Amino acid sequence: MPSRHDVHTHDAHATDAHAHAHAHGARAHGEHAHGGHAHAHDEGLARMLELDALVHKGYLTDVTTWLQGLAADAGVQRVLDVGAGAGSGTIALAQRFPEANVVATDLSEGMLERVRSLADASGLAGRVSTELADIGADVARLGTFDLAWASASLHEVGDPDRAFRNLRDALRPGGLLAVVEMDSPPRMLPLDLADFEDRLYAAFAHASQGNAYHPDWTDPLYRSGFELEVRRTFMIDEPADGRGRAGEYATLYLSRIAQASTANLDDADRALLTTLLGDGPDGLRQRADLRLRGSRTAWIARRP
Ligand SMILES: C[S@@+](CC[C@H](N)C(=O)[O-])C[C@H]1O[C@@H](n2cnc3c(N)ncnc32)[C@H](O)[C@@H]1O
Repeated sequence: MPSRHDVHTHDAHATDAHAHAHAHGARAHGEHAHGGHAHAHDEGLARMLELDALVHKGYLTDVTTWLQGLAADAGVQRVLDVGAGAGSGTIALAQRFPEANVVATDLSEGMLERVRSLADASGLAGRVSTELADIGADVARLGTFDLAWASASLHEVGDPDRAFRNLRDALRPGGLLAVVEMDSPPRMLPLDLADFEDRLYAAFAHASQGNAYHPDWTDPLYRSGFELEVRRTFMIDEPADGRGRAGEYATLYLSRIAQASTANLDDADRALLTTLLGDGPDGLRQRADLRLRGSRTAWIARRP
């Protein structure tokens, strides 16, 4: 019985998760980055992105295997990772496309350092390079690519239409763009705490004024001259080991959520949150019954 399943959908998809953008320490849609200057490096965010990749390894394998199938006839030699963060996608792509050189870009040099160490540790340094670059601006100098991948990054860009046009120009005719976004904050609490988790995210959404998590990228893709091949939602629902990385991930994630939401929780929920984030026996790091639930949407578009 597979624990993940996929849904092919064409529904509009704006969700309530400004939350995630903030939890990932990023700007939410509407509070954009401008220019090519680097962010101050956020170690907590980098660690969370690394944990996200470890905890969601199954999803990352699924989405890159699917992408490999779609790109099968495309002869993938050069891959661009847009907003690579700590490099989980960069490494997954380098593994999935063993003939390809992968260029990881980000606004943050600190993130790119992480990508280089991860590539080293994975024995992929020879095929992975990094470039400090703003996808909204200086992309032409990076050359031409067969495949571009943008995971959880385009919702942070100030002028996404311009970024999409830059990506179209960076791809060779027939080249593929994969845009992936998290649809809502990943749920991780044990099922007996699902009601509390609902209240926590409702408080967070309230604090975030209910902004959409990510736009539906379908129209911007068409406007920028892409042809949409397929849009697919990856559903994630599987047990996670609470005493391993998932416990650390959940603790780090909820700590960031908590900063914005505690004012909107009642005393009992605030006390419960403190217990869950703590080092005691009921803390998330100790619990073995965490369960990952969430969904991520991928758009695959082709430059005609
Ligand atoms: C939430 S992280 C996602 C990282 C990674 N792709 C992943 O899926 O784990 C978003 C990343 O996009 C980068 N980013 C934001 N705006 C960007 C831009 N205009 N150009 C390049 N990178 C950008 C941020 O610095 C951050 O590292």
